[in-house]
Formats: sequence, structure tokens, C-alpha cells
Amino acid sequence: MKSITIALAKGRLADKATELLTQAGYDCRVLQEDSRKLIFTNGDGSLRFIMAKPADVPTYVESGVADVGVAGKDTLLEDNRNLFEVLDLGFGACRLAVCGPIGFDLDDYSRGKLRVATKYPNVSRRYFAAEKHEAVEIIKLNGSIELAPLVGLSDVIVDIVESGRTLKENKLDVLETVAACSARMVVNQASMKLKAEEISTLIRRLRRVLGQDKERGV
Ligand code: PRP
Repeated sequence: MKSITIALAKGRLADKATELLTQAGYDCRVLQEDSRKLIFTNGDGSLRFIMAKPADVPTYVESGVADVGVAGKDTLLEDNRNLFEVLDLGFGACRLAVCGPIGFDLDDYSRGKLRVATKYPNVSRRYFAAEKHEAVEIIKLNGSIELAPLVGLSDVIVDIVESGRTLKENKLDVLETVAACSARMVVNQASMKLKAEEISTLIRRLRRVLGQDKERGV
């Protein structure tokens, strides 16, 4: 049996993914230890885990350092790597949206070039080009994106909306939805062939836990 290396996004997504893998019958107890280690091998050696920053998971999987990864759809859209996206894991549900001051009219072009603050420059550029045929000025930020329109750094933002609380408490609103997002399992293209048996077993077991086996007739 070949071991599968899984890149997990440190934090909430990793915790949820671990829960799911455990339900699918994989021994993940090694991840319960309170540790700052970044690489773990499980009890029977079937899985090796590497703990990456969420935005870096696609890089590890595309390079083949990891066979499999769990990443948010938002990250996958931004990175746009050559990976197989094999499963929607359901958790981490949120949406990527254009947000701004309540009542802001995106289609009022008298404003001049739209200034968009975001952690997702590629997604934003693509969205405005495809949907509005508009080239926008991107202001790349690393967090607290909602601050930008409040202080006049940008007109609008493209960001993740989960509960909507951050927007509400800052008197901002969703103007347009860009994409529905959730955690996805991705697979390296070569690993899919070289570790076909182990990876298809993993996918099959996860599908069963997720209740996706019936709808696909697997
Ligand atoms: C994310 C996102 C929003 C917020 C949305 O920020 O960028 O700011 O969560 O969640 P809500 O709709 O439930 O309020 P995160 O907490 O990841 O921190 P960040 O500001 O550093 O990006």
C-alpha cells in the first residue's frame, strides 16, 4: 500500500478535514497532539499530513510534494492551478462577492475607473472583465479588506462573505455574488495515475461519508 501525502490548510479547514477523514475510517489521531510540527504520519502509515498556509495548498499539490490537498474554492479560483478537483467537502461554505457601501451602483460608469480592494486580484480582474467588460484598478490587501472602502482606499471590495456580520457591522452590503465557495479536495495529476488505487479508495470512502455515493451510483 502506498502512502498518500495530504496538504491541509492550517486552521479550521484542517480540523474539519481531519474529522471527515476519521469518519471515513482513517486513523488521524496523530493530528490531535498539541504540536507545532508541520509534518505528521498516521498510525498505519497510510497518510502523511503536511500543514500549509491555506493559500499555499494548491502550490504543494500541483508540484507533487503532496498528492492530495484540501483547500477553499476561493483559493483554487485565485490560484488557478492544474489540479483535479474531485470532491466538494461541503464545509467552509461562504461566497466570494463584490461588496461596497449600501446602494453603490456598480454600473454607474461616471465614477471613473473602479478601485477594488481584495485578497483575490486574479478573481477580481477576471470577474470585472467577463461580467462588466471593465478593467479595474486592483488594490491588493492581506486582510481586514472591509476597511478599504470605509477609509476611501477603494470604492468596493471583492471578499469572502460567510455570516455577513462583518459587512453589516461596517455598513457595507453585497453588491454582486462572484462565486459560491466551500472546501474542495484536489489531487495532483500524476498522483492520480501513480497512486490510483489508494486515491480512488480515499475518494470512495469520503463520498460515502458525505452521502455523495448514492447520487453518483458509486
Ligand atoms: C474573513 C473575510 C471577511 C470575514 C467574513 O476574514 O475576509 O472579512 O471573514 O465573515 P463574516 O461574513 O462571517 O463576517 P478573516 O476572518 O479570515 O480575516 P481577514 O480580515 O484577515 O481576512
